Amino acid sequence: MTMKRSIKFCLLLIAVMLPTTSFAQLSSNPDKFLGNITTTWSNNMDYEGFKFSDYWNQVTPENATKWQSVEGTRGQYNWGGADIAANYASQHGFPFKFHTLVWGSQYPDWMNNLSQEEQYNAVVKWMDAAKDHFPDLEMIDVVNEAISGHAPAPYKKALGGDGVTGYDWIIKAFEMARERWPNAILIYNDYNTFNYDTNKFIDLVKTLRDAGAPIDAYGCQSHDLGGMDKDAFKSVMDRIQNELKMPMYITEYDIGDTNDSNQKWNFQQHFPVMWEADYCAGVTIWGWFYGQTWINDESTGEKGISGLIKDKKERSALKWLREYMQTENAKNAKSPFPGMKMETQLYVKPQALRVNMDQPVSIDINAKMRTKTISQIDFYINNTLVKTLTQAPYTVDYTPTEKGTYQLKAVLTATDGSKYERLSSITVHGSRAPHKEELSLPGTLEFEDFDEGGEGFTYHDSDMVDEGKANYRTDSEGVDIVTGNNGYAIGYTATDEWLEYSVDVQQAGTYSFEAYASKGNNVQGGFSISLVTDGQNEELCQVSVPQTDDNQWSTYKKLTGTFSKPLPAGKQILRVTITGPYCNLDKMILTCKATGIDEVITLKENVQRYNLSGQKVNTSYKGVVIENGKKFINK
Ligand code: XIL
Repeated sequence: MTMKRSIKFCLLLIAVMLPTTSFAQLSSNPDKFLGNITTTWSNNMDYEGFKFSDYWNQVTPENATKWQSVEGTRGQYNWGGADIAANYASQHGFPFKFHTLVWGSQYPDWMNNLSQEEQYNAVVKWMDAAKDHFPDLEMIDVVNEAISGHAPAPYKKALGGDGVTGYDWIIKAFEMARERWPNAILIYNDYNTFNYDTNKFIDLVKTLRDAGAPIDAYGCQSHDLGGMDKDAFKSVMDRIQNELKMPMYITEYDIGDTNDSNQKWNFQQHFPVMWEADYCAGVTIWGWFYGQTWINDESTGEKGISGLIKDKKERSALKWLREYMQTENAKNAKSPFPGMKMETQLYVKPQALRVNMDQPVSIDINAKMRTKTISQIDFYINNTLVKTLTQAPYTVDYTPTEKGTYQLKAVLTATDGSKYERLSSITVHGSRAPHKEELSLPGTLEFEDFDEGGEGFTYHDSDMVDEGKANYRTDSEGVDIVTGNNGYAIGYTATDEWLEYSVDVQQAGTYSFEAYASKGNNVQGGFSISLVTDGQNEELCQVSVPQTDDNQWSTYKKLTGTFSKPLPAGKQILRVTITGPYCNLDKMILTCKATGIDEVITLKENVQRYNLSGQKVNTSYKGVVIENGKKFINK
């Protein structure tokens, strides 16, 4: 063969290998996208003659915008793969999504060895680097897979940990993203929210929404849906939406099945439900070439079985998908983001998620439109119009007079008449009340009888899950009450949790205690007790709880001590704060070692008394006095 002829032959061969028809993208719907991921691990867009843009009109890099891929070596940023996808998207005029800023997987290993402060700085630097490289991102998975059960992000505490909302660190991540990308669609993304963890997912996204975090949409990855029929799928999808009332994305749909008709059956069950939901802003399929993405056959080990093109041929699911995309239903399906663009940012941010009855709460509504102009914002509480605001800052002051959960709603009307809605909620605590009858001192304080009122008000637990499951009381939210020591106790304690107790000090003076506590490990644990006056805590004692048994918490031991300051007579609030974790607290018997001022005054003048340093003092001395070997208090 001559050189010329061999080139001709090669060209012919290539032509034969290429698919014969060139398609338009599968979706012709202008309002929502049908996307896919970068093709193969090497970040190609086109593969084996198949062109990405002949099929899909949105791209998410499979791995190339994960922190580990970009900054595996600290300070060295590799944006190669990300650029391929981002440039391709902009050349073809379709959306690119950055996946992901904060995640407990695929983050750089070097993060594990840093102090909290260094971790925080590293997150800031990573987000800054992403912003410098991609200043105009339109969609970002800000946080990925943060529901408990996924690999926890080791830098969660550095971002603020659980905090009072339970998700402070996620809120922080969204605020950091919003600062850097004022116009991007900010998304919280999680795994199979339809089969597992539906409630946890709803709770997480709802908390972010209610806290007024700048979250614009929620992403349901949609892996592992094989076998779920359309009715079951639609009902769980609608359930999530009814709770959240926010735009949704299907972000990583795939059906791993070696059997073509099974794969197609699943697509037929799920895809129209996703696509036709008017709250769904787009669907991204996770991979399209057989053998080239992450799902393998569990029994045979065959790789990448979710692929839609196998041996250069379209599998039946893909053929069906093309036909479906031509239907009127598919072409006209509505989206919360017409033109694939978000028009309005609307966040309702109450001062706190949990507030006290009869105290004013201020609620900020943060609103911004991309192309339109805001005409007014109507603010509703439990569906009753409370205020119409026509000028920024949009703030409402409200004083709740009953306890319970209040639904807040802002309805924004633009000058063209279009409307946008955002929900939030606040929980209003009842007033403080002792759980049983008020404890008078001297007396016995049962740790499980902390005051009624609410989380963040009369107690604080590190999460909203009652791990103790003793069913002792119904109002205790996340506080963990266990059975133990022939009664109930506080268990699963974590540092910085606290409980408050209304007490009536009948006898003023210095108190000593016998506390009963257990501990099944040797992690340093303990608690402190303080007197709460006008919101200030005055520490009375520190108690360290030693290990009482090996890996079990049923052995309670007596611990003794004395308060460093006297308790004044009358109604007081005591606060118990956990200073080291894993101690179970049962009860505390409080006895008064000295009497109060009245008795001191009635003492005879001629009796000698001393202060604690042994100096002689007279009856007008303020402080602890010792008389006949007994301690007395004179305020
Ligand atoms: C997967 C990729 O597909 C694999 O190539 C990689 O080895 C592991 O991650 N949830 C996500 C995606 O958010 O980023 C994951 O992607 C799949 C599960």
